[in-house]
Amino acid sequence: MTDKAKLIVDGKTYEYPIIIGTEGEKGIDISSLRKDSGYITFDSGYANTGSCLSSITFLDGEKSILRYRGIPIEELAEKASFIETAYLLIYGHLPTKAELEKYSKAFTDQSMIHEGMKNFFDGYPLSGHPMGILSAMIGSMAGYYPELIKPNPSKEEIDLISVELLAKVRTIAAFAYKKSIGEPYVYPRHDLKYVPNFLNMMFASPSKPYEIKEVVVNALMAIFILHADHEQNCSTSSVRLVGSSLANLFASISAGINALWGPLHGGANQAVIEMLQKIQADGGDIHKYITMAKDKSTKFRLMGFGHRIYKNHDPRAKILKARADALFKELGINDPLLDLAKQLEEIALKDSYFIEKKLYPNVDFYSGIILRAIGIPVNMFPVMFAIGRMPGWIAHWKEMLSDPNIKIGRPRQIYMGNTLNHFVPLEKRE
Ligand code: ACO
Repeated sequence: MTDKAKLIVDGKTYEYPIIIGTEGEKGIDISSLRKDSGYITFDSGYANTGSCLSSITFLDGEKSILRYRGIPIEELAEKASFIETAYLLIYGHLPTKAELEKYSKAFTDQSMIHEGMKNFFDGYPLSGHPMGILSAMIGSMAGYYPELIKPNPSKEEIDLISVELLAKVRTIAAFAYKKSIGEPYVYPRHDLKYVPNFLNMMFASPSKPYEIKEVVVNALMAIFILHADHEQNCSTSSVRLVGSSLANLFASISAGINALWGPLHGGANQAVIEMLQKIQADGGDIHKYITMAKDKSTKFRLMGFGHRIYKNHDPRAKILKARADALFKELGINDPLLDLAKQLEEIALKDSYFIEKKLYPNVDFYSGIILRAIGIPVNMFPVMFAIGRMPGWIAHWKEMLSDPNIKIGRPRQIYMGNTLNHFVPLEKRE
């Protein structure tokens, strides 16, 4: 195979090195293209643009493969804990028993937030969206750790910030929820592991202790693990782009949370349930909504369907579908919205529009259904995604920072606006 790609433009030939990844992915290194030829590439949505070399996650959308540090997510969802998965992503290998014990203890030790931060919650109206609150709180954590926000943190400092973030994000999320329902905050407990601790902070109250069920813990754990990384998606790319200016980790992750919030990304799990509720309230006519989704003039899309990368099936969705079935069976839940979701899935999967465009249910379709079943309020769904994605964001920020050739992210554009124009004084304007 040739190791150079040739580009012929304006009658001149330029050669560019070919990069082959460890899984055979191929790229053309055009870093010197503009300098050589005066041209840039145009790639709306960056669908064909590799922004970095990364060793964290391998994803093959055609073959529905997703692996963290080489380990298939099917194995991790089945056998690993979220904390082990976080360690794997951030440190590049599975922890030994001693490493895991030390890591888990650090999460317990760091789970409390500064008492002063509680005042922030009081400033928000009850209707404040928890994603907005989460991103603001994570950003404001920088104010509490001035020693950790310098541009080139040491390895030890990065370790410390990442534990602080992972440990505190669930406390902040649970406090935001408690604030929104007007209940007192439930503090993290030292005797509980990561996921049960979070569930307890969300659902226990002074009048009613929360019964921690293994099936619920496992379902939420699977959601966290399956969301833990997904290479250069919109929010991770945002974390990397912000971090490339050497902005601190709190600021970079706060940006990632905002990017995740949109309904085309992590907000889709909330959008799925809202769409199902809308269909239900409108009489449950699924065909009407399928027809709308196919008609571009309506601007309506089937939420939870389609993916930029997966053009076969989303492997995370497959795992969560099985978890949803098990959870509903074990909890004895009979939810008409789930029946509607199943019918919608069945009809869409047989529809030629969805088949031709390779639009399959994505991870958000099933995570929304599971989160609803375990009692997470709909506006907290994207927050669950953010907690899960935290290890991936940290791993990417850390990987980028360790690159000796780190460059500030700065795409170019093709200008399509006015050519030279002159200022017209106000009195002469028409
Ligand atoms: N419903 C109806 N039509 C759709 C849908 C959908 N959910 N998704 C894509 N299409 C159509 C588009 O209209 C387009 O049609 P065209 O070729 O005739 O123009 C074609 O399929 C390709 O769609 P694009 O938007 O070009 O695909 P892209 O890769 O840019 O978008 C995305 C992927 C954003 C996920 C899209 O499928 C979508 O909007 N889905 C619904 C939102 C959603 O579920 N997001 C969660 C993604 S998973 C995650 O973030 C974890």
